[in-house]
Amino acid sequence: MSKLIGMLTAGGDSPGLNAALRGIGKSAIEDYDMQIIGFRDGFRGLMENRIIRLDNELLSGILTLGGTILGTSRDKPHRMVVGGKVLDMTDVIVENYHRHHLDTLVCLGGGGTQKNALRLAQKGLKIVTLPKTIDNDVAMTDTTFGFDSALSIATEAIDRLHSTAHSHHRIIVVEVMGHKVGWLALGAGLAGGADVILIPEIPYDIEMISEAILKRSRRGKRFSIVSVAEGALSKEAYTSAQKDETDKKSGKKETENPDHLHGNTMQLAKKLEELTGLEARVTILGHLQRGGAPSAADRILATRLGTACAKLISEGVSGVMVAATGESFKPVPLEDVAGKTKYVPLDHQWIESARRVGTCLGDRDT
Ligand code: F6P
Repeated sequence: MSKLIGMLTAGGDSPGLNAALRGIGKSAIEDYDMQIIGFRDGFRGLMENRIIRLDNELLSGILTLGGTILGTSRDKPHRMVVGGKVLDMTDVIVENYHRHHLDTLVCLGGGGTQKNALRLAQKGLKIVTLPKTIDNDVAMTDTTFGFDSALSIATEAIDRLHSTAHSHHRIIVVEVMGHKVGWLALGAGLAGGADVILIPEIPYDIEMISEAILKRSRRGKRFSIVSVAEGALSKEAYTSAQKDETDKKSGKKETENPDHLHGNTMQLAKKLEELTGLEARVTILGHLQRGGAPSAADRILATRLGTACAKLISEGVSGVMVAATGESFKPVPLEDVAGKTKYVPLDHQWIESARRVGTCLGDRDT
């Protein structure tokens, strides 16, 4: 009897999801004679039993499409809003998995999805995950699909902002996504030649930034581009966020303060205006970075991880994420991935190269 595989996409969408669904599905059907169903809108569709049978026809023509044909949501199995209440729906999900006699459930998602997938694997379900996110923050994989596409979009935005910043002699602060990590802001800043790059991994000193901008001004460069990660924090905000974190761990504080999660870009621009006397403008790239067709690199990555996933399932492997390692792939136990974040290492070559070309990273003199 052929194996039945379930697939779902969870968390924020990102370019390359459809390419991955196609890679898994086509290979599973053609190479291993499996059957595929998709659950709509992430774990919610699995809980509500909303399915779609995925055959070759439905999986065809989606390689280049942005978003996800399955729909997605940020719902977690153990904390789902149902009828206005937050409930643990894990048992219903486990029951639905068995009701369909699934051989394996494939969850395509970022850090949150890896954690949710591990919880389900611990309930005895056979789970395989794929690393997807524009943030590139999933542990144990070289990269995630979605990142390269978002990087190109953010880089193009910085390219375009250069000419207007230059013409008006302004500071343009461009806020780049990335949640709590700086891969996108750093990569786009490096590729787009930003003059200042601010990332969560390096708390910034506003005086250092304004000094770097004024230095440029004195050299006749009367404009500056600041690529700031949405999670970047000033030194002061970082210290207070650390304290919140400690309070949260010791139970003194329950929820995360959103002001600490996202550095305040508008405030940063205002402060830079005050300190430099130059006019500043803010561009928040937001969800533009997640939309549209995947880049060629993301299509290739998603296809190769997808087909590797089908192969692993055919071999009976489960409880793993299919990680990208160089030009190959590796099954990594979910326990080694879940709950971990891949930050930009401070000795990463992107950081070193940025410094060497004179980019201010907000922490020291340029
Ligand atoms: O994780 C991807 C991401 O785009 C982050 O960069 C960003 O912080 C977040 O999702 C935005 O989430 P939402 O689409 O739910 O507003």
